[in-house]
Amino acid sequence: MSPVALLRNALRVLVPLAVASTFYLYLYPVFMGCAFPLPQSLDRNESDSGAAFQDTLRQHVSRSSSSSSAAPFRLLALGDPQLEGDTSIPNYYGEPFPHLADVIRHLSFRTSHPSLRKRLQQTFHDLVDFYFDDIPHTVESIRKRIDLFGNDFYLAHIYRTLKWWSKPTHVSVLGDLLGSQWIQDPEFERRSSRFWNRSFKGGERVPDEVAAYPSDEYGLAGLLGVQDSDAAAWQRRIINVAGNHDVGYAGDLTVERLERFERVFGKAAYELRFELPLSNPAANATIFHPEKNPDSVRLAPELRIVNVNDMNLDTPAAEQSLQDKTYGFINDVINTASAVEYKGHFTLVLTHIPLYKPEGICVDAPYFSFHEGGGVREQNQLSADASRGFLEGIFGLNGDPNAPGSGRGRRGVILNGHDHEGCDTYHYINQTLEGDERQWQVTRWPAAQSSRLPTQSGAPGLREITVRAMMGQYGGNAGLLSVWFDEDSWEWNFDFATCPLGRQYFWWAVHVFDLIVVVVMLSLGILKACLAAGLDVDKWPRSYASALPRKDILEKKPNVRNGHIKKG
Ligand SMILES: *[C@@H]1O[C@H](CO)[C@@H](O)[C@H](O)[C@H]1NC(C)=O
Ligand SMILES: *[C@@H]1O[C@H](CO)[C@@H](O)[C@H](O)[C@H]1NC(C)=O
Ligand SMILES: *[C@@H]1O[C@H](CO)[C@@H](O)[C@H](O)[C@H]1NC(C)=O
Repeated sequence: MSPVALLRNALRVLVPLAVASTFYLYLYPVFMGCAFPLPQSLDRNESDSGAAFQDTLRQHVSRSSSSSSAAPFRLLALGDPQLEGDTSIPNYYGEPFPHLADVIRHLSFRTSHPSLRKRLQQTFHDLVDFYFDDIPHTVESIRKRIDLFGNDFYLAHIYRTLKWWSKPTHVSVLGDLLGSQWIQDPEFERRSSRFWNRSFKGGERVPDEVAAYPSDEYGLAGLLGVQDSDAAAWQRRIINVAGNHDVGYAGDLTVERLERFERVFGKAAYELRFELPLSNPAANATIFHPEKNPDSVRLAPELRIVNVNDMNLDTPAAEQSLQDKTYGFINDVINTASAVEYKGHFTLVLTHIPLYKPEGICVDAPYFSFHEGGGVREQNQLSADASRGFLEGIFGLNGDPNAPGSGRGRRGVILNGHDHEGCDTYHYINQTLEGDERQWQVTRWPAAQSSRLPTQSGAPGLREITVRAMMGQYGGNAGLLSVWFDEDSWEWNFDFATCPLGRQYFWWAVHVFDLIVVVVMLSLGILKACLAAGLDVDKWPRSYASALPRKDILEKKPNVRNGHIKKG
């Protein structure tokens, strides 16, 4: 077979494979059937992912979004991208081959030794180290650099593709944007630039004037379900949560670390409120009004997003003033919340470290470690006390059935990261138990759902979703949270789905394969161009072989089996 025919046949196989795998990779949410869950009634246990997928597809096919029944609030929730950098490259800050440099110094007499024997001995030592240390380190460093470079684009692929396909109204990265809190400022700038310029290209930090401090009076900007410029701005913005790798745990969190995080990624603690405009005047007329409608418990539907920096909730903290600020913030969130007896508000808490739960519920078990001189060094979960601050404080749940609102609290959900494996749980308290027995309990969400725990009276509770990491090792996961308002019950409901891309190897394989196909196509093009230019390239190997004098002499006659061979 001539080279041209060989390449052409190879391409017949390679091109369809490349096109198919590339299509799959670039349209993976479509092939995986990913979509934001559709609003549905609460008593349906299973969400209809088929209908949700068709609805998303319809939004892409028809220009107008009016035919869609999608939820008005759709949050693309991404966990722990953890951009690594210099700290994971062994030779980042050194010469590439330090021992080889020593060998050269010894041999060129730029080191001092008492004798030639010692000099040679040292030279051989360093030579051995060159082979067994320098070379493996360099190979590992190069591998790691390529790995990091690809990883930036792997994360970008998840963000860009899901944003395009699933059409979220909001995006959040649930902490650990970067891989280490101990990095120096220049490396922090490099990783931040990679975050915004590569992995989350097109994204913007939430402006400080939008990230509000909790207050009673609100100019409710950013109405949901309205395709105005505000909605477009929210589609670009990324609600970044501060994680331990971004600012450090309580024992590492300093004013400087928090300041540099907030400058680049947005404030670490704030709230956002969105109002859902009601189109139905009859429903609107039932809303509480101090004079016109004093007996109503219905409030204008409002969605409250609270971004909590829970890094320094537990003690001891390195910087007491920062911890006081965090506590002050949470107290103000509680003080500005609607009274628990009222309906129509929904609180979405975004934070990084998950709430306390006993060992065996999620992959991470409770774990704390402390710095030598005090200060939290590491923790897997919040302490049980800090967790109660969320459940009983922000959400107003209560084990006492005689508490306001029967202790059922406010509706909402907690989203976080940190446990890379992800976890979906339900916290509840059994009000029929007495005294010390009345404790917060946790169960996995599917179990809670199948025993209909969330709808049981006498057991108020709250769902907490730890979103599985978007890192390659954890399958490039993403969470899709839909929140919608049900006018009949005057309550907000939500549903959550996940959409994994698959490990980074597939992303790499497809791109390397595409590159090979492009190289083969270019080679074919060059060969054809040469042929067209009159160069006899298609027969080069054989005419070259027949031009070898020795072969000619040995064989004496042309190879007749291959009739079309010509003499050179
Ligand atoms: C993105 O890259 C540009 C150009 O290299 C740089 O000026 C800018 O600061 C980068 N953005 C961030 C957020 O680092
Ligand atoms: C709803 O009621 C409020 C007063 O309670 C009124 O200001 C508003 O215009 C009403 N909206 C609609 C859509 O009817
Ligand atoms: C609450 O406790 C009571 C008494 O022990 C028990 O019968 C009931 O099943 C419990 N409820 C839940 C939801 O666990």
